[in-house]
Amino acid sequence: MKTTILEAKGVCKSFAHNGGQNHVLSHVDLKVYEGDFTVIMGASGSGKSTLLYALSGMDRATAGTVLYQEKNLVTMKEKELAKLRHTDFGFIFQQMHLVSNLSLFENIAVSGYLNKEKTSAQVRERTEMLLARMGITEVKTHLPSQVSGGEQQRCAIARAVVNEPRVLFADEPTGALNRKNTTEVLGLLTDLNRDGQSIVMVTHDMRAALRATRLLYLEDGKIIGELSLPIYDSNEEKSRETQVNAWLSSMKW
Ligand SMILES: Nc1ncnc2c1ncn2[C@@H]1O[C@H](COP(=O)(O)OP(=O)(O)OP(=O)(O)O)[C@@H](O)[C@H]1O
Ligand SMILES: [Mg+2]
Repeated sequence: MKTTILEAKGVCKSFAHNGGQNHVLSHVDLKVYEGDFTVIMGASGSGKSTLLYALSGMDRATAGTVLYQEKNLVTMKEKELAKLRHTDFGFIFQQMHLVSNLSLFENIAVSGYLNKEKTSAQVRERTEMLLARMGITEVKTHLPSQVSGGEQQRCAIARAVVNEPRVLFADEPTGALNRKNTTEVLGLLTDLNRDGQSIVMVTHDMRAALRATRLLYLEDGKIIGELSLPIYDSNEEKSRETQVNAWLSSMKW
């Protein structure tokens, strides 16, 4: 039996547009399970990012509920929500949003210091461990502008998990990366998932989608399909690709 971490019920999101309403999400029901690498796919403009923001409390749904530990993120006070985003969730985006005048080490550690759940020594120790794990120890004193895009994204991943989030949210984390860096970043996310990290990622990159243990397809503001997969194994990439391709075709991808 899988444990539910997040549950969206009847989630709607509309934006004011040209005097009318643009209904982007319409009554989305969705459970996110602990330990899953959940990947949400769908055409550009289908509302993937909007759904991710609603699930993670980055933005509020217009209607419906998003339950996390029996609390509703949609109605939660902003202060409480901000704290929750910091302590329980981690975020990675296409643009890394690293602080330009801080070193890679500092970019990661600052997030840990602000959290106040660990001592400074514990934060530094975890930062060093993550730098090593992400393969960027040698450039830890560099500024973001002095390292490659792949190294910046690896730093952003380390920052996102420094507080040991219950859920790691990722919005097109490989969108700005070349092929080699994409493979590396996907490998790191898969490794984190293998160690139990729950991940929710939106992407339209097929290679990123292959990493999912659960694939969801969003169309017209609704989840219209889902596919469960075992944890990614590079030895079985071909058959996995065939399976995912067939599923995506059935979604008219
Ligand atoms: N803040 C906003 N204000 C108004 N409209 C918005 C806003 N955010 C998103 N939208 C609209 O909602 C729709 C879905 O946007 P969203 O960014 O969620 O799509 P997406 O599936 O993530 O697309 P992509 O794959 O291109 O990133 C689009 O029509 C977009 O214009
Ligand atoms: Mg998007």
